[in-house]
Amino acid sequence: MQLLVNIDHIATLRNARGEGYPVPAQAAQICEMAGAAGIVFHLRGDRRHIKDHDLPALKEVVQGILDFEMAATEEMIELLHQLQPDICTLVPESREELTTEGGLNLAAVFKDFETRVFPAIRDGANGSKIEISLFVDPNLDDIKGAIELGSDAIELHTGTYANASTPSAARAELTRLATAAKIAHSAGLKVNAGHGLNQNNLAPFLRAVPHLADISIGHALISESVFHGLATTVHAYMTIIEQVKEEQS
Ligand code: PXP
Repeated sequence: MQLLVNIDHIATLRNARGEGYPVPAQAAQICEMAGAAGIVFHLRGDRRHIKDHDLPALKEVVQGILDFEMAATEEMIELLHQLQPDICTLVPESREELTTEGGLNLAAVFKDFETRVFPAIRDGANGSKIEISLFVDPNLDDIKGAIELGSDAIELHTGTYANASTPSAARAELTRLATAAKIAHSAGLKVNAGHGLNQNNLAPFLRAVPHLADISIGHALISESVFHGLATTVHAYMTIIEQVKEEQS
């Protein structure tokens, strides 16, 4: 398991004043120097945080994994092909939401993904491997759908776990996440995860859910970095991950 830092909210801060700073690509460099395995960004249709000009800058500086989170639109697939990142994480997107609110409804998009989206992404990959990851809730139907589509990976939506209002609700969601991870892993899919993770809820999640690969963390980490510095905050998350890895070894 390894940390990928989502740097969208560096762009949120920049855009709040319409200035050229702070620069998302510079944040990406600091995160990687502090030990993060890679960087995630979400280019939304409304460009509310990351902008098109951030993409080549991120591609140029990121040395580890670059994960392009996007809706499955023609426009985004075109930009994906221009950028050639390592991972393409497909998410649902609606204009009204403050953040991605849940996983893909795979039953609803299955045909479109099978006939248009997956072939288009793979055809334009220019022989290089862009891993396709589907952001899904931990329910059996969606995991089966991801397997049937031949996805390379899933990203488990951890938001319901992170926002659980009672310890027993959190425990129940961890059980669902663990079951989903086992099924996806046994079918050969890589298991990523993210949304709403922070320094309090990360360790219990990592202990409960097996087979985790890339853990994507943004809002809490970037927020904490305002007080403690970006490198220090990345280190704090890395320490949690390393500690759980050590317990499990
Ligand atoms: N994974 C996905 C698919 C997301 O949409 C987000 C939020 O942009 C994250 C992970 C990171 O979530 P957070 O910002 O709550 O850490």
